[in-house]
Amino acid sequence: MRPAPGPAERAARPPAPQNGLIRPTPGKTLGALDALKNQKPAPRVDPGLEEAVGFTHFDTTASQDNMVTVLTTRDDLHLLASQTLVRVKSREDGRSYLGVIVRGPFAEPNAVPANSTMAVGVVTHGKKLTYTFEYHGRAEIEILGEELKGALEPPRFRPRPQSPVFLLGDEESARVLGVRGSLGLGMVVGYDRMEARIDPRDKSILPRHTGIVGTTGGGKSTTVATLIHRAQAEGIAIIVFDVEGEYTHVDEPTEQAAMLEALKRRGRKPEGVRELHIHHLTGRASRNPRHRNLHRFSLNFSSLSPYAIAEILDMSDAQQERFLKAYDVTKLLLEDFGIFPRSEEDRRRLLDIDELSTGHPRMTIQHVLDVVSAYIYSLSDEGRSEARGRPRAASRRQGNFLDELDPENASAQAPAHGPTFYSEFRSNVGRVMSRVMAQSSKHEISWKALASKLHRLRRLNIFDVGSVRGVDYNSMLTPGRVSVIDLSDTDSPQLNNLVIADILRGLQEAQETRYQKANDREQTVTPALIIIEEAHEFLSASRISQMPVLFEQVARIAKRGRKRWLGLVFVTQLPQHLPNEVLGLINNFIIHKITDSSVISRMQRTAGSIDESLWNRVPRLAPGQALVSFSNFTRPLMVAVDPAPVKRLLVE
Ligand SMILES: Nc1ncnc2c1ncn2[C@@H]1O[C@H](COP(=O)(O)OP(=O)(O)OP(=O)(O)O)[C@@H](O)[C@H]1O
Ligand SMILES: [Mg+2]
Repeated sequence: MRPAPGPAERAARPPAPQNGLIRPTPGKTLGALDALKNQKPAPRVDPGLEEAVGFTHFDTTASQDNMVTVLTTRDDLHLLASQTLVRVKSREDGRSYLGVIVRGPFAEPNAVPANSTMAVGVVTHGKKLTYTFEYHGRAEIEILGEELKGALEPPRFRPRPQSPVFLLGDEESARVLGVRGSLGLGMVVGYDRMEARIDPRDKSILPRHTGIVGTTGGGKSTTVATLIHRAQAEGIAIIVFDVEGEYTHVDEPTEQAAMLEALKRRGRKPEGVRELHIHHLTGRASRNPRHRNLHRFSLNFSSLSPYAIAEILDMSDAQQERFLKAYDVTKLLLEDFGIFPRSEEDRRRLLDIDELSTGHPRMTIQHVLDVVSAYIYSLSDEGRSEARGRPRAASRRQGNFLDELDPENASAQAPAHGPTFYSEFRSNVGRVMSRVMAQSSKHEISWKALASKLHRLRRLNIFDVGSVRGVDYNSMLTPGRVSVIDLSDTDSPQLNNLVIADILRGLQEAQETRYQKANDREQTVTPALIIIEEAHEFLSASRISQMPVLFEQVARIAKRGRKRWLGLVFVTQLPQHLPNEVLGLINNFIIHKITDSSVISRMQRTAGSIDESLWNRVPRLAPGQALVSFSNFTRPLMVAVDPAPVKRLLVE
């Protein structure tokens, strides 16, 4: 077939003879028509779509609420990185949604199914073939909400098919994710410049308690050290229960090579915290014995709940029953001897005492031991015969009946007969005996078992040590002070628990008073952060079933802490040992690497609202990386926690 004449050819043709009716089309017009014919249609790109990185797909029967599939070109696939925030403009119905990429981006061939023989053949022959199938990207997004008048509302609909999808800039992403505030913990993975920030003065964040969990070496203690450093800079009072003594040098800059390197990469300097105070139990050493702010402390028997003591000493029911009886008699004797109460005010104070959370003012362990000793005497042959009014045999054993249980006490001055007392009760043995007789008891064996437990406790020499004071809670709660309770030398979880329970209660009471005072002056109270390392030792499920009173105390502190600005931080590599009651108190999580899938699923149930794609990464996190879920974040974030600028002692 002959090709149609071109414009040049036509222009050269002689004009057709004029018959007055049809005139030939002028060459100029013909040329214009040809140009029009050859012109390709201009691409009709809506300026509103230029920035789109993909489009929503149609739904199928497999579609799920809140999840939308986004398709994109091969060129744009790299823009749909996991965890990226996107805006979906459903133009058909004029709605706008925010979402996050939770699955993908996947690459799917355009022409054939990915699993077809052809696709498999082309890919497997990659060495020989220079071509591949054209493909596109697919990602799944989770809809965070619909944008309505500047707020994010739960979506009632879903984006229509072929709605354009846009990326959010870093600044807008930070705003949407809720990462604002002055306390930065590290960088959000997947963004160039986004820091995971919280507002340290926001009552709905730190006082709603935090769990830092992960396997050994995951980076928990480094995160704690970073948190201490940052929180101090914000003027928060920080108290750390340090089971290993690893934070006793945090006022010095770190010297660890890996940490120095990591700090350099983040453009930060090694630096110790400013005001460190170290507290250690009297008679126990500190890992920083020459520190200038070293404080010894003893515990007050009078501040421990008798029920908590019974739990901690693992008393049998019979022993506990006797202990509480002795405790009650001791209270009467304290009044008889003019020790407490002494005044009307004392009497009023007595009315407020809740024995489930605290002890009896001015009572010492020696007072109780004296009463126990009186009971044992009253149940002995000698005591019984004395009670019946018979004269005593001359060859009678001398000294305290408890001396055989506690040889240390044997050196005390023993009278010629009767029980020996070591407290103020010494001055009137008869009074003690008559109180004991008025509330008689049975079973000398149980009393002796109780006595031996109490003696063991007394021999720890941590109670009411005359010259050594208790912990000064008020100075601990001053702004920017870091107090480390060094428990490295106690080697007894029971003793640690006693200390932790006592100090927690003291802190809570002091903070309560400070809160009231601040409130009266229309000021805000200094926020406090209490960090408990190795929390599973203090609060393990098995222990809590044996120690309901102790746990109730912690729960009470946690609940009151919310209102009074006391934030608890539980650090543990065994979160599965924490009972649900404790996990239920925690609203913020920093989850480092966890490999055990059963632990992950336990955490998954606890921490909630963290999508599968994030949990899948938890077993492979590098040291220092963590899945961070704070109550101010719109959704949990993968964070590279900042290296700690402070020195941390390594635990062997
Ligand atoms: N944020 C971080 N940046 C850089 N390196 C880190 C970070 N966190 C941890 N590391 C590295 O991992 C090591 C172990 O961290 P760390 O001692 O904090 O773990 P851990 O979870 O407290 O372990 P353990 O259960 O044994 O107490 C650190 O010595 C350090 O080398
Ligand atoms: Mg650690």
